[in-house]
Amino acid sequence: MSLVWLVTGTSTGIGRAFIPAVLARGDKVIATSRNTSSLESLQCDNPDSVRVLPLDVTSPQDEIEKAVEQAIAVWGKVDVVVNNAGYSQVGTWEDISPEMLFACFNTNVFGAHRVTRALLPHFRQRRSGWMVFVSSLSGLVGHPMTSAYAGSKFALEGMVESLAAETAPLGLHTLLVEPGRFRTEISSSDKSPVHISEVPEYAEMSRFVRDYLRDLSGKQQGDPAKLANVVLDFVRGEGVAEGKEAPLRILLGGDALQDVKGKTERLLGSINEWEHVTTSTDFES
Ligand SMILES: NC(=O)c1ccc[n+]([C@@H]2O[C@H](COP(=O)([O-])OP(=O)(O)OC[C@H]3O[C@@H](n4cnc5c(N)ncnc54)[C@H](OP(=O)(O)O)[C@@H]3O)[C@@H](O)[C@H]2O)c1
Repeated sequence: MSLVWLVTGTSTGIGRAFIPAVLARGDKVIATSRNTSSLESLQCDNPDSVRVLPLDVTSPQDEIEKAVEQAIAVWGKVDVVVNNAGYSQVGTWEDISPEMLFACFNTNVFGAHRVTRALLPHFRQRRSGWMVFVSSLSGLVGHPMTSAYAGSKFALEGMVESLAAETAPLGLHTLLVEPGRFRTEISSSDKSPVHISEVPEYAEMSRFVRDYLRDLSGKQQGDPAKLANVVLDFVRGEGVAEGKEAPLRILLGGDALQDVKGKTERLLGSINEWEHVTTSTDFES
């Protein structure tokens, strides 16, 4: 059966990689983006399987709902939403203004909430649907100068965990994708400039992070096309997911594996070490 995918943020990177991956499985895609000009030729070349729709995930809820209605009207349904649109905000806690923090959450968290909220009535009515969220290694581990970005992805993880528990009984599926560093434009100096901190204590660290991201550009281990194919496998029950129940979370990338295993071990070690204090605050029964 051919599935209809709605993907946000398809102008570049991971979102863009979904388009050929979806088409290669014989599915259809509604490719959404703030600026659709770079996508028009894809629709012209594949009129029966690609539809391009303008969508800024920070738009008001009623505008998102209109866009989702339009998307459903194209082929009469949407089977899978991929909440991919997002960006990275780099800076120390002190250097990130409340406005910068809000903007980051507005795209990475509220955007995913708006789009999924608009689709949920459709999914509930059909008692089927997949909600995919492109989270991050930063949804599980906080690194220096990522408090805004990691904060947004941690928030997304908590919300999605709750969503999955609410909607699994309705027959809906939820998948959190947690990539490490993938070869896209996310950390380019255009999209995510790293300003050298004016706080003297942070200047050296911000220079290090700027140089690290500059040197990493184009050399990230993660391949967006492979990520898209893993998600397709889970949703379609094919390839790596053949005969298996999909997990709620999938870490992608050797770098993510190393960081998250390290954190999990430290967390469990700390929980075990302080277990007697943890339980010491209970009332005597
Ligand atoms: N690459 C990585 O290493 C990595 C690792 C972990 C997680 N991720 C996550 O993967 C997702 C995709 O990022 P990417 O790496 O593919 O970076 P990317 O190449 O910069 O792509 C980001 C996409 O999101 C879109 N976008 C940003 N703000 C938007 C908005 N308000 N409304 C609609 N679309 C918007 C961008 O559109 P414009 O062209 O209009 O800006 C672009 O299409 C993000 O959620 C990111 O957090 C990436």
